Amino acid sequence: MKQLCARPISLRFLLSVLLCLIHPYQVLSQSQYSPKDRYAIDCGATSNSTVNDISWQADTNSPYISSGILASTNVQNSLLPSIAPFLTARIFTHDSTYTFPVSEGRHWIRLYFYPFAYQNYTPDSSIFSVIADKYLLLSNLSVARDTNSSNQAYILKEYSINVSSKSLSITFTPSKTPGSYAFINGLEIESMPDDSFADDAILVGHGVPSQFGIPNLALQTMFRVNVGGEFVGPANDSGEARRWVPDNTFIRGAATGAIPPYVFDITYTSTVPSYIAPISVYGTARVMGGSNSVNPNFNLTWDFPIDLNYTYYVRLHFCEIVYTSNYQRIFNVYINNQTALVGLDILAKVPSANMPYYVDFAAPMLQGDSVLRVQIGPTPNSGAQNNDAILNGLEILKLSNSESSLAGVSLPAGFHPGTPYAAGSNGRSSSTGIIVGAAIGGAAAVGLLLAGVCFLLAKKGKGTKVTAPTWLPLPLHGGSSGSMGSKASNESHKSGTGSFVSSAPSHMGGRFFTFAEILEATNNFDESLILGIGGFGKVYKGEIYDGTKVAVKRGNPRSEQGLTEFQTEIEMLSKLRHRHLVSLIGYCEEHSEMILVYDYMANGPLRGHLYGTDLPSLSWKQRLEICIGAARGLHYLHTGAAQGIIHRDVKTTNILLDENLVAKVSDFGLSKTGPSLDRTHVSTAVKGSFGYLDPEYFRRQQLTEKSDVYSFGVVLMEVLCARPAINPALPREQVNMADWAMHWQKMGMLEQIIDPKLVGQINKESLRRFGEIAEKCLAEQGIDRPTMGDVLWKLEYALQLQDNATLSNCNDAISDDSNPNVMELPLHPHGIDKSDTTITESHSTMSSEEYSEDAGASAVFSQLVNPQGR
Ligand SMILES: *[C@@H]1O[C@H](CO)[C@@H](O)[C@H](O)[C@H]1NC(C)=O
Ligand SMILES: *[C@@H]1O[C@H](CO)[C@@H](O)[C@H](O)[C@H]1NC(C)=O
Ligand SMILES: *[C@@H]1O[C@H](CO)[C@@H](O)[C@H](O)[C@H]1NC(C)=O
Ligand SMILES: *[C@@H]1O[C@H](CO)[C@@H](O)[C@H](O)[C@H]1NC(C)=O
Ligand SMILES: *[C@@H]1O[C@H](CO)[C@@H](O)[C@H](O)[C@H]1NC(C)=O
Ligand SMILES: *[C@@H]1O[C@H](CO)[C@@H](O)[C@H](O)[C@H]1NC(C)=O
Ligand SMILES: *[C@@H]1O[C@H](CO)[C@@H](O)[C@H](O)[C@H]1NC(C)=O
Ligand SMILES: *[C@@H]1O[C@H](CO)[C@@H](O)[C@H](O)[C@H]1NC(C)=O
Repeated sequence: MKQLCARPISLRFLLSVLLCLIHPYQVLSQSQYSPKDRYAIDCGATSNSTVNDISWQADTNSPYISSGILASTNVQNSLLPSIAPFLTARIFTHDSTYTFPVSEGRHWIRLYFYPFAYQNYTPDSSIFSVIADKYLLLSNLSVARDTNSSNQAYILKEYSINVSSKSLSITFTPSKTPGSYAFINGLEIESMPDDSFADDAILVGHGVPSQFGIPNLALQTMFRVNVGGEFVGPANDSGEARRWVPDNTFIRGAATGAIPPYVFDITYTSTVPSYIAPISVYGTARVMGGSNSVNPNFNLTWDFPIDLNYTYYVRLHFCEIVYTSNYQRIFNVYINNQTALVGLDILAKVPSANMPYYVDFAAPMLQGDSVLRVQIGPTPNSGAQNNDAILNGLEILKLSNSESSLAGVSLPAGFHPGTPYAAGSNGRSSSTGIIVGAAIGGAAAVGLLLAGVCFLLAKKGKGTKVTAPTWLPLPLHGGSSGSMGSKASNESHKSGTGSFVSSAPSHMGGRFFTFAEILEATNNFDESLILGIGGFGKVYKGEIYDGTKVAVKRGNPRSEQGLTEFQTEIEMLSKLRHRHLVSLIGYCEEHSEMILVYDYMANGPLRGHLYGTDLPSLSWKQRLEICIGAARGLHYLHTGAAQGIIHRDVKTTNILLDENLVAKVSDFGLSKTGPSLDRTHVSTAVKGSFGYLDPEYFRRQQLTEKSDVYSFGVVLMEVLCARPAINPALPREQVNMADWAMHWQKMGMLEQIIDPKLVGQINKESLRRFGEIAEKCLAEQGIDRPTMGDVLWKLEYALQLQDNATLSNCNDAISDDSNPNVMELPLHPHGIDKSDTTITESHSTMSSEEYSEDAGASAVFSQLVNPQGR
């Protein structure tokens, strides 16, 4: 941990020192940013218009789109801020795409929706999705429902995506409901300064700047707040047409602090140029009330409603507009009740008052209330002259998830997350007036160039950019957790027909099934045979002609793209043959179908045998054998195939059990082929399941086999403790099972939290070994974790210990390793026997670094100041 995390910090630090030496806070004249690309399309309109400084361009005979119905209304709504772009719209009854020539790089996309009735098109029947480039922005959107429920006349959504080609496409896809249609009233596209979002942000709760792969993510603006100030519209936003709203509706509690006078004289610098936020944001603020405050012992608190299961990028804007020297105001920042920044003294960060400063955080919101909370309050015992805190502005942006989605996972057919969307891929010809090579004008202002140069310098120092993944993903994307056999456990031991298939010799490439055979096997896709539903499609239980029971995975209607992926999947999966992997029996691609046929696993997922069902409890020996089987399967994946394969979604629902309780690893939907020899990791957007995610992978987006090892450590603890990896219903410290189990393991008291059903039958020494293995798998750093091969040996040893104990019938007596009956199996060279202190050390390093980057100088200084009783 130390080495990995220290690097970006010291580089950053060095860089800021360097910048100060070479360009000592270069003051910039307040020049406006002027975007290279700027489109403002008044969809459906027949004439141009200008409102509030936005020049809306009509799109009759548009060069950017050729399909759609031009609609308009003359029903005014007093809640609308203007006529354009609201009273006209383009209506789409099938997939339709706007394509704009743009330069590469980040762009704002703004979508304006105002529901009105036109001919037979009534807003209530409109439900649709919107895809930009390869990102799913909106899914199952009903504008009428959303405006009704929020009591607003219209909806405005803002996104930022990094365009990597010379054109940007925005596709509207009506839902398949009869009579449904899509529409759009206004569409803005605007290029952004390249450095608008840095790739590193401070991970809340960890305190260290981490990289999140932001250049490859889409962002959605959730809130942009001018704290203590007024609404700022597009015309007042220093070049970028953003909107800043007042903070009144977000501030919480009785103690809302005070608002100091507006300061107009803000000095922008090369570090914070004017386009970061306008004067009206930095020049206004909310403070606690200073030394006059009656009770300084409180926090200013803002609450923001957000959607769970996304990570949010939180940018806080600070500018000291009241005091003029440091040690006057030193405060902490908390996000979601966790310390985000300690001892911030703005004037220790910038040379003088009225100079802006901002800090970026990343806040994963995986559980709890759908509320993101930001708080500021004085740092206790900081020695500052005033018990006070200040905040000037705040932005909260949602980061697209591992499925390249900002809108959950309800994907339109034919859309494969992370790949550019091909409209009309279902054979329907549609839309797309593609204009290539249109010249894009717009000279950048001199001030911008200057800023750009400074930032280029700054960027270089940051180093360690994550390179784009070049690995071949296996295509069957799934939120399809435990897809196969998830209901199969009900069937458990009734088979007995000897029809189990894993022993049947399967041939290279699998067997080809006709569609008729599939229909017969699944009783015409009988809904009552559904075992599970995943991102890829539904999984049915079936029985083929010879009585073999199978699991049939039926893909959504295909696209050209899907076809290639489907074929890759068949090719890859058919190469993977192992007793502990679920195998592919065959496939069907008749009638534009994409169907895969797998082994049927009579006993379903492992999880169902641990908790949450009334299946009989597994003995400790059975559990060890299952863990060993799964470890063998993973070991084979990592080392057996030519290039090595990383599973990426190891969890108890992806370990299936056959009729003899033999474990088989399933669901390679997220798998990636491993690093080739010259690379040590695969960098890729974070995928996987919460609670099982390797923290290192999460922070650094670098995938190695050790990420699977971490997840497997969680599985081991789950097997031992018989509870879910994440259980939000439990008290806070128990929610995450890995943390909770490690807490007990480190105290040497793991037996306190084991499955009550194991008490009495588990040999102490076997348990001790098992706990050690799990602990090592859960090491913070991949390098400290054992390989799956090591894990396998160690588990077998734990099983031997249990067996011997049972044989000699002295369950609790064995207490040392020198049991002559047991030979410890050889260890692999690296990793497994590194001492436990590595782990504890890395923890303490992390928390001390929480202070080093952003609070360094002031924290040290406050220690000097304190003794004098300031
Ligand atoms: C609208 O303005 C654009 C230039 O911004 C011009 O090319 C176009 O002809 C105008 N359209 C109408 C209908 O006036
Ligand atoms: C789509 O929205 C409708 C309401 O308009 C809702 O009933 C339905 O459950 C949603 N479907 C999905 C897949 O989210
Ligand atoms: C929205 O409100 C209007 C008027 O109150 C109503 O007619 C319409 O059915 C509502 N639409 C939805 C989707 O709730
Ligand atoms: C956009 O993506 C490209 C390729 O991934 C990357 O090189 C570039 O830095 C990104 N730009 C921004 C502004 O994130
Ligand atoms: C916004 O700009 C307009 C002129 O373009 C100006 O009159 C107004 O005062 C500005 N508002 C703020 C909050 O700065
Ligand atoms: C978040 O993810 C968890 C686990 O996948 C799921 O159970 C939960 O329903 C999700 N919450 C929301 C709001 O989507
Ligand atoms: C923060 O603490 C408050 C009060 O204890 C609680 O209501 C809220 O849910 C907590 N928020 C989070 C994100 O934990
Ligand atoms: C401020 O908020 C943080 C995080 O929620 C909390 O730990 C701290 O006790 C609060 N301080 C005061 C004075 O309430």
